[in-house]
Amino acid sequence: MRKKIVAANWKMNLTLQEGETLINDILAAGLRLKDEKRVVIATPFPYLVKAKSLLKNYPHFYIGAQNCHQQKSGAFTGEVSAQMLQSIGVEYVIIGHSERREYFGETNEMLAQKTNLALGQGLIPIFCCGEPLDVRRQERQNEYVEVQLKESLFHLPAEQFQKVVIAYEPIWAIGTGLTASSAQAQEMHAHIRSLLAQQYGEDIATGISILYGGSCKPSNAAELFACPDVDGGLIGGASLVAQDFVAIVQALQA
Ligand code: PGA
Repeated sequence: MRKKIVAANWKMNLTLQEGETLINDILAAGLRLKDEKRVVIATPFPYLVKAKSLLKNYPHFYIGAQNCHQQKSGAFTGEVSAQMLQSIGVEYVIIGHSERREYFGETNEMLAQKTNLALGQGLIPIFCCGEPLDVRRQERQNEYVEVQLKESLFHLPAEQFQKVVIAYEPIWAIGTGLTASSAQAQEMHAHIRSLLAQQYGEDIATGISILYGGSCKPSNAAELFACPDVDGGLIGGASLVAQDFVAIVQALQA
């Protein structure tokens, strides 16, 4: 059975002390997660070691980074490699978030390199895809996401590909308060899964977790997570408030 995952993406928010309080408040809620359910907390780089130690006795909780560099190592001042993340016990890494694509010029080709390095270090990539508003208005979202997957992931051999988690995040829904309807999310998730089946076969496609992201909150999480091809969420704004994040994780349980 494929994993159900709620991943927090803190982005560039919170101090270390605020982050520690947030994690402690989430843990204090006493969430009981069954086997195939996971919570990932993607903190800023400087907090990963601390977050790892806070979560060490909580087997369903994992830490994630929000990015890694596309080169293995070397003279890239200010950057962080997949190997560095592996060396501190990071388990997941978000790759190709639309903010990275838009503000930092990350291309599909660079994201293919990042994915290769992450997998090479045993990290689980949470690969983000999703269309901007003008593409959605022209109803070209299916082709748009297909190109993102083809150019960044479909070079992977099946045994590597099956470790990847995909997050569909329509850009028009990120941080805007606009959420894709559950019908829109389900339609795209089913489309993504059919592309995976064409490329890797039904068995592998059925096993891949596809998360939804974009203004997911307590009021809409349960409906989104009830869609047959939605396997959880990547949560931005609502992951910064313990009570909201806990409610979203509980929606996964329902
Ligand atoms: P949001 O962000 O939940 O604030 O819309 C989601 C994301 O960017 O991963």
